[in-house]
Amino acid sequence: MSDKNLVTGPESFPEPRFDDGALTQVASTKASRRQFIKGVIASGAVASSAAVFLTACEPGEQGAAPAAAGGVERLLTLNVNGQMRRVDVMPNETLAMTLRYKLNLTGTKLGCDRGECGACTVLLDDVAHYSCSTLTHAARNKAITTVEGLESESGELHPVQQAMIDELGPQCGFCTPGQIMSAVALLTANPNPTRDEARLAMSGNLCRCGAYDNYLNSVMRAAEMA
Ligand code: FES
Ligand code: FES
Repeated sequence: MSDKNLVTGPESFPEPRFDDGALTQVASTKASRRQFIKGVIASGAVASSAAVFLTACEPGEQGAAPAAAGGVERLLTLNVNGQMRRVDVMPNETLAMTLRYKLNLTGTKLGCDRGECGACTVLLDDVAHYSCSTLTHAARNKAITTVEGLESESGELHPVQQAMIDELGPQCGFCTPGQIMSAVALLTANPNPTRDEARLAMSGNLCRCGAYDNYLNSVMRAAEMA
């Protein structure tokens, strides 16, 4: 099973559900189901190139918040998808909030915001974690990987992403980034899982559409491709 870090985080943040382009894009473009799935799975590339809602600050830049005397240093450098990102982080801020609303990495979804659904799953040092339940300050010295970080530099999808397209894994696609990250964590630790092992590893990711068999098929297909 994925190692979920269940540090309790605040529950008072606003939750802008279904605010990403992938879903509304479907209704407007009448894209085929395969095109839609491809769009959802590759949404990280779009998100990472969009304007930043709250820009991460460079050292010494206006808006950077130093630690109060005796307090926690707020200006952090995070290793996100292989890039060092400077960002001002409140002591009680969750990693999901930092990723989505300060670093504009909206591929990471917020579903329950309380460690129950897995939509917010990211990797910390290649281990799956719920980012809604992980304090950003606890991720300071970790290699953080989000769904945006899976593509190769040449734009080639990760084998898990490709397998999800090939198997038509997602339905609405909302849980898909979390499913992908849990599958990547599994295959990194165990490149040849049995179907039962894969089912167990994915058990922390809920799918409201009930596309569990599709996702399992995708994981097993990705294992064969690797
Ligand atoms: S949003 Fe993090 S587990 Fe549901
Ligand atoms: S595909 Fe819709 S919630 Fe999983």
